[in-house]
Amino acid sequence: MSNIGSPPACTAHRRRFLLQLLKGATASAAFALLNPFEAIASAPAIETTASFNKHPKFKANPFTLGVASGDPLADGFVLWTRLAPEPLSEDGRGGMMNETIALKWRIATDEKMQRIVKRGTALAAPQLAHSIHVEVHDLKPARDYFYQFTAGAFESEIGRAKTAPARSANVERLAFAFASCQHYEDGYYTALHHLAQEDLDFVIHLGDYIYENGISKDRPRRHNSDEPTTLAGYRNRYALYKSDRHLQAAHKQFAWIVTWDDHEVDNNYAGAIDQDDSPPAEFLQRRAAAYQAYYEHLPLRRSSLPVGAQMQLYRRLTFGTLAEFNVLDTRQYRTDQPCGDGVKVRCAAALDERATLTGPAQERWLLDGLGKSRARWNVVAQQLIMAQFDVKAGAAQEFNMDNWSGYVAGRNRLIGYMLRARPSNPIVISGDIHANFVNDIKADFTDERSPTVATEFVGTSISSGGDGYDQRPESLRRLAENPHVKFHNAQRGYVRCTLTPQTWQTDYRVVESVTKPSSAISTRATFVVESGTAGAKKAEGESC
Ligand SMILES: [Fe+2]
Repeated sequence: MSNIGSPPACTAHRRRFLLQLLKGATASAAFALLNPFEAIASAPAIETTASFNKHPKFKANPFTLGVASGDPLADGFVLWTRLAPEPLSEDGRGGMMNETIALKWRIATDEKMQRIVKRGTALAAPQLAHSIHVEVHDLKPARDYFYQFTAGAFESEIGRAKTAPARSANVERLAFAFASCQHYEDGYYTALHHLAQEDLDFVIHLGDYIYENGISKDRPRRHNSDEPTTLAGYRNRYALYKSDRHLQAAHKQFAWIVTWDDHEVDNNYAGAIDQDDSPPAEFLQRRAAAYQAYYEHLPLRRSSLPVGAQMQLYRRLTFGTLAEFNVLDTRQYRTDQPCGDGVKVRCAAALDERATLTGPAQERWLLDGLGKSRARWNVVAQQLIMAQFDVKAGAAQEFNMDNWSGYVAGRNRLIGYMLRARPSNPIVISGDIHANFVNDIKADFTDERSPTVATEFVGTSISSGGDGYDQRPESLRRLAENPHVKFHNAQRGYVRCTLTPQTWQTDYRVVESVTKPSSAISTRATFVVESGTAGAKKAEGESC
């Protein structure tokens, strides 16, 4: 079992320290830390705050890491940036002095920033690497807005974000893309370049935003340090990744909804257990540093402000009556891999009721949300392929013990609940495995004739694994042994989804190359789910 042990000694101090950054935090904001799914009051005006620099002087542009927005609600979203004139400076401070900076933000309805509808000031403090997370409210639903920051004499690029439709709105169309696994060394972000050109309402990132590995040889690009374990180390790894212009462009165009997988901390970690079986207390110190750096670099609400080695990331977002997204965290609360890590024959422990990817509280929250939802499409957005997938060709069966196939009882509880409670059109979207899949989630994966309960779309990597491939003979052999898998492909790219009340269309967008700085893109396959019928069908012909 990988329980979260006693928090590190610094936790209380760190919590107090970070909370102080929520200037004049009101009772409702404090409440929101405990109840992250409640609406959070706008941050109070900062004029009451004691010590900050309103007129900073920078030797170079501090907006080197771009801008971002996230978690769209019907009345607003989160704005993010981090001041870092020297983003890769080894001390993790981004070339900033040890002082709090007042930074201005404004929101307009036009991309030239002339019709301003909201403006304010945010404090960028050294304790959070001079990152800011502004929670904007009181905007109109389902509208495009544009935003820009000013710090000293410098202006950021202009970003765009769209608010969600009103909760009661009957939405006719929603489009989003999901992506994961962007190993910097393995390739260029050619897919993100194309993603930024799409016509989308938002983007979902399912984890492995960074990779923690040290420096490799003979890859298209190189990491900037050995494997990070400290806050400065993780900050610099994020800074390297976020210096990529295609990643910046994709953030600039759309609000992102993010969750993590393992590599934001350590490969295949489970709760307080890392891959090297370090003492849990030691690993939790590292996890605290990694979680804080994650928060500092992504457009998350203050409900995700880390508290020591803990961070509230699972959450729910609703888009009118059309779709609801349950965004999961399958790393922080999981028990250790029941049969050990790796691909192997399943042992009895994989069936243990206590083995869990989500932890009991998140599981209850998920089932409860699915049961109460009134949305047409109910999405479980998470990291790991959920359908059973026997990776061993031939009579023997082997499974990847790090994903849902290693935690069978938890998967059965979720599938059993869907079968009983019948949430409308459950769709699972997954990452992690660096390949595209379309799967039927079966009531019983050993019985081809058992009901299909939900539809799963697994998305490939942005770059992890290098150029990849379309089909190989062994993958076709494996497909034959997993009849609930309808499509497999291991090229790089992202997945575009277009929803209407009647249909869910998924387009697998793939690039030719990630080992060259630019590449063409195409749609490798299109699948459609009809509302009311679980399971995707391949669309005839090619779409663009
Ligand atoms: Fe990955």
